[in-house]
Amino acid sequence: MRSSRIELFGAAVLFGAFLAFSVLGAPGVAVAKVQGQCAQCHTMHNSQNGQSIVSTPNGALIATENGCIGCHTGTNTGANNIPYILSTSTPNYGATGTTGDTLAGGNFYFVATAGNATDAAGHNVAGLAASDAQLGLTPPGGQALLSQLTCAGVNGCHGDRTKADDFTAVSGAHHGDDSVLDGSTVAQSYRFLLGVTGIEDSDWEYQPTVTAHNQYNGYDRAQEADVDNSTISALCAKCHGDFHSGAGDLGPSDDGSMQSAWIRHPTDFDMGNVKNKEYGAYNGGNSTAAPYSVVAPVGSDLDTVPGVQQTVFDEADDAIVMCLSCHRAHATPYADALRWDYSAMVAGSGAGNVGCFICHTTKD
Ligand code: HEC
Ligand code: HEC
Ligand code: HEC
Ligand code: HEC
Ligand code: HEC
Repeated sequence: MRSSRIELFGAAVLFGAFLAFSVLGAPGVAVAKVQGQCAQCHTMHNSQNGQSIVSTPNGALIATENGCIGCHTGTNTGANNIPYILSTSTPNYGATGTTGDTLAGGNFYFVATAGNATDAAGHNVAGLAASDAQLGLTPPGGQALLSQLTCAGVNGCHGDRTKADDFTAVSGAHHGDDSVLDGSTVAQSYRFLLGVTGIEDSDWEYQPTVTAHNQYNGYDRAQEADVDNSTISALCAKCHGDFHSGAGDLGPSDDGSMQSAWIRHPTDFDMGNVKNKEYGAYNGGNSTAAPYSVVAPVGSDLDTVPGVQQTVFDEADDAIVMCLSCHRAHATPYADALRWDYSAMVAGSGAGNVGCFICHTTKD
């Protein structure tokens, strides 16, 4: 059995600044379910020796300042048993976010007030940054939210999006059994995104490789209106609808079909449909076999691809373009939370197998 330990700094008890987590034992958490003594994470009355533990009491009697973010702040090492989505000093993103110390979502540092705040770097989540000065509460391609983005709930991405606040929206997920990810509960959804399925990399894509990465769920649509809500792109579309599944916003002539010439970049569309074009050479491969890329990843129909994919074009629906082929969900050093530097994508430059060119193999 994996031995793990989660510690509370003695000094932090009085005013509960931060919980510090450390892990003894093997990296990689097969079943992502919290472990440890209750008092390491909860406070029964928000009081110790007559003084408050946290300045604003949290739902679920949580003993950290700044709610969700309090626990999820730190530096990833590949051995931590909690995913850190915010660093307090500049994280090492590398060129594509696959070689440093950031995780699949990137790192909110790049958009956070504490960091080198750039609104365009990603989602301006409350508690991390002020509202985006340019975009305000309106997701491009969608309707304005009622208030600033939150981690979870009605104005957020994680948990049950019908529930008002972060802790109500994810209630039970951290202690839940997530060995089966069928989207039926928050715990049993991919990364607590209710209804979304997928295969979770055990270290949240700390330095992912072709054999160790998240497997995203994608769906090959014939019609734009044919939406599968268990895909990761459909989750993004809950707020950015027109970029994925608005009324005839993708295919030619606004007719709702899923084919070239596109009027917006396709998502939930299988590259296998067009592998006779340049896409067949995805990531240096050929149209019968190509290695999976962690730099410009593709989703798959999880029914036909049972495990973590190492190659694409093995079968239908295993090379699906999705929002996360180009973006990361939290923030990156680049504008629009792109996975790589878009300004370096120069046609005819001979740049080779990077960014857009991993799929658009003849445009470099
Ligand atoms: C590593 C941190 C951690 C430890 C240790 C921990 N919890 Fe939790 N617990 C959480 C978090 C985070 C939440 C709120 C988010 C959620 O519900 O997923 C939570 C929520 C809960 C809830 C409300 C949701 C539910 O599952 O019903 C209960 C009850 C609970 N914990 C009880 C306990 C008890 C009892 C212990 C000790 C045996 C304990 N917890 C230890 C992190 C922890
Ligand atoms: C008391 C500390 C604590 C708090 C507060 C907390 N988390 Fe976590 N969180 C953890 C730990 C520990 C893990 C790793 C174990 C696990 O996956 O359940 C985790 C894992 C996660 C994961 C990854 C789950 C997966 O499938 O790998 C997500 C997403 C997440 N938390 C979101 C949230 C959100 C949203 C909130 C606020 C509602 C929150 N957390 C609050 C401790 C916390
Ligand atoms: C709960 C609604 C919601 C969901 C779900 C959501 N977003 Fe957003 N998104 C917003 C809002 C609001 C903004 C504008 C404010 C901001 O940038 O913080 C935004 C902005 C963006 C931006 C522009 C960033 C900038 O500041 O210029 C990108 C890129 C983006 N979202 C991508 C995604 C992707 C990819 C997903 C799915 C993984 C997603 N969003 C899911 C609400 C959402
Ligand atoms: C994961 C693979 C992938 C990535 C990464 C990717 N694309 Fe695409 N792109 C496609 C596919 C597949 C199509 C649809 C082609 C078709 O239907 O013939 C497409 C379509 C397009 C089109 C429209 C072509 C048409 O026939 O209407 C343009 C322009 C385009 N992409 C530009 C880009 C740019 C710029 C980037 C980088 C920001 C990029 N793409 C990244 C796979 C990708
Ligand atoms: C092929 C790569 C690619 C895919 C796939 C992709 N995007 Fe983008 N996205 C970009 C690029 C590049 C930009 C920068 C602006 C531009 O060039 O249009 C961008 C910009 C954005 C913006 C900011 C728009 C603004 O007004 O500032 C949002 C929001 C966004 N994308 C959301 C999404 C969502 C949601 C999906 C999935 C439905 C998605 N993107 C899929 C490449 C992509």
